[in-house]
Amino acid sequence: MSLRLAVLGSGSGSNCQSIFNAIDDGRLDAEVVIVLSDHEDAYILERARQRGVRAEVMDCGGYKNKFPLELQAEVAEKLKALNIDMVCLAGFMRLVKEPLLAAFPNRILNIHPALLPAFPGVEAWTQALNAGAKQTGCTVHYVDAGMDSGEIIMQAYVPVKEGDTPETLHARIQVQEHILYPAAILSAVSRL
Ligand code: GRF
Repeated sequence: MSLRLAVLGSGSGSNCQSIFNAIDDGRLDAEVVIVLSDHEDAYILERARQRGVRAEVMDCGGYKNKFPLELQAEVAEKLKALNIDMVCLAGFMRLVKEPLLAAFPNRILNIHPALLPAFPGVEAWTQALNAGAKQTGCTVHYVDAGMDSGEIIMQAYVPVKEGDTPETLHARIQVQEHILYPAAILSAVSRL
């Protein structure tokens, strides 16, 4: 039976698109049932709408970074009602806590633009450049209550090149992210 996915994102949604693409070309037997964003103008919502996928804004009550616990409870209930099997965070910029975690144990994944445990947190590609790293990459991991701290599922390496700027490095990392995320979802499914 095909996997029922929910995707949460705050930005452009290129990783969400890579999941759509993997579904369309048969790499992933899944359906994205709903896309949720904390920003009403996030392009990830537009990508969902263009595909005919349910797209909804989560009202975080004016908090810049907080993901209110009551809202997380509502989201958990909504996703349960939709029989969601797995939740994919794709550029979602708020920390997931209980009760969303408890509702989907080992079923919430995140993609991070560095080789965790190196460079957790924001602008991981800039952190890698500033640290003089020779290589960086991306990681798909299970989400726990910490910041980019859950068990690692899969990683891909990306070399840091002479003359890289934050933008060129992030763009090269994203190419790998788009290959990695669908593959890591499959891997996580095989472990359920
Ligand atoms: C990606 O680099 C992802 O690793 C990070 O945020 C970015 C989201 O990009 N967590 P997009 O919205 O999927 O294009």
